[in-house]
Amino acid sequence: MSKKFYITTPIYYPSASPHLGHAYCTTMCDIIARGKRMRGFETYFLTGLDEHGEKIQENAEAKGVTPQEFVDEVAVKFTSLWKTMGISNDDFIRTTQPRHYETVKKIFSSFIKNDDAYLGAYKGWYCVHEESYWTETQVGPEHVCPECGRPVVEKEEPSYFFRCGKYVDELLKLYDENPTFITPEGRKAEMVNNFIKPGLNDLCITRTTFDWGIPVKEAEGHVIYVWLDALTNYISALGYLQEDDSKFQKFWNDPESEIVHVIGADITRFHTIYWPMFLKALNLREPNRVFVHGLMMMKDGKMSKSKGNVIPVPPLVDRFGVDAVRYYLAREIIFGQDGQFTPEQFVERLNADLANNLGNLLNRSVSMINKYFDGVIPEYKGELNDLDKNLKETAEKTIKAYEVLSDDLKVTESYGAVMDLVSAANKYIEESAPWALAKDPSKAEELASCMSHLANAIFVAGMLLSPILVTKSEKIFDQLGVDASMRNYETATKFGVLGGQKVVKGDQLFPRLDVEAEVQFIKDLMAAPKEKAAA
Ligand code: MSP
Repeated sequence: MSKKFYITTPIYYPSASPHLGHAYCTTMCDIIARGKRMRGFETYFLTGLDEHGEKIQENAEAKGVTPQEFVDEVAVKFTSLWKTMGISNDDFIRTTQPRHYETVKKIFSSFIKNDDAYLGAYKGWYCVHEESYWTETQVGPEHVCPECGRPVVEKEEPSYFFRCGKYVDELLKLYDENPTFITPEGRKAEMVNNFIKPGLNDLCITRTTFDWGIPVKEAEGHVIYVWLDALTNYISALGYLQEDDSKFQKFWNDPESEIVHVIGADITRFHTIYWPMFLKALNLREPNRVFVHGLMMMKDGKMSKSKGNVIPVPPLVDRFGVDAVRYYLAREIIFGQDGQFTPEQFVERLNADLANNLGNLLNRSVSMINKYFDGVIPEYKGELNDLDKNLKETAEKTIKAYEVLSDDLKVTESYGAVMDLVSAANKYIEESAPWALAKDPSKAEELASCMSHLANAIFVAGMLLSPILVTKSEKIFDQLGVDASMRNYETATKFGVLGGQKVVKGDQLFPRLDVEAEVQFIKDLMAAPKEKAAA
């Protein structure tokens, strides 16, 4: 039976057009999902939209449309972006869908029935932007939101509360027993010290001051708090408490299924404190991991529309290709750490890794196989010398390292290892000096071995890179003349399977970019929305 793997992105607020920051998280999840599928895991990849809440209602009013019309319009932009980025999600959940409503209402009723929720009154400092209440201490003397720094307002409303106290001990036990539940582990201390230790208040889970949300069946005028509504998407999308819950049984209820939520650092509290508590109340297992990625920053801070520093994705993909943009995101920003986007690093990374290292390797190898062997990859006959042995061992070690690192969600490092194999193959060419072997008829076997080792190493690297290079890995296989039946992980990772294929010289995989011109192109892209915002 194949292993099961369930991966989710946060569901995004359709409050504005998506930008590279949103694309970052979804692309990383897509790379992980494709990597698992490639290796034979039965994989389910979910993304979607978080469409309720006061902020959306306000945005819609400002535009003079209904909230539903507003979110429908923005939803199209998100689905279109996922198409542009080559995202292979299995489902797209929107919290305004009936299937989601059904589950959330039932969950809420079960909280009341089991005394996990009770009716009280809430008074506190509220941040509209974060849709969060804060205590007096948290907002400080300036009365600003500790998360986003915006001014907060004092609010009172009758509300239902979730009894957090019931589950705090179990939560801490979960952290202890599963040290990777919050990954990277460094994020855990922040949750424990800043939120749990000072005392966790019961969480207010309904609102009465606006109506753009899922209505509470038990109390008229209450809508369900947007975070309870949103977090539930991870199980409503699988059919939890719905007629057909087969996906839920397969990907959530089965203890053998690995569940990973990938989120940005800004929403760690909800995913690592409240979400496991809700699941405990429902008597459901927790995800194996909540992976917290860093934010993509610009030189002047966080990417935001008001700063005019957002990078629109479609023109970037149009110019550089989807593979290049995906590669940049996976390799330049270390998954789990904050990263900074600069046009210079973007162009340089693509030139160094894709044009010079990978593209060149393929180009040189195919040319030499054409020149010395009439385009036919020589049969693989094992290693003739230390250089051959070394390359084969490097390829085999890379496959192992790739698997271990990617299972540990060290995405950047896992593809770093693959690119090291590509560098090793380039170095192998220099050290084997096939051009010299070709001049000496007594070295014919060594020359053949060299070409066959190269082709096989490229096949391995091309396969391992395929979760990122969604179109170019196929071009690599085309140039190596690999038959469709061989284009799978199992075959490619048995070093030495290539031999007898006819190579086909193709276009340059990744043309070398003119640094100055391309940097200017990106700078112009960044400037465009600023002008619009000012207008
Ligand atoms: N709707 C909530 C999430 C609910 S999940 C049950 C939300 N939405 S959001 O659209 O504001 O942000 C969602 C995620 O988008 C962040 O957690 C992060 O993964 C991603 N990013 C948004 N801007 C980003 C950057 N500038 N950089 C990296 N990721 C960014 O919070």
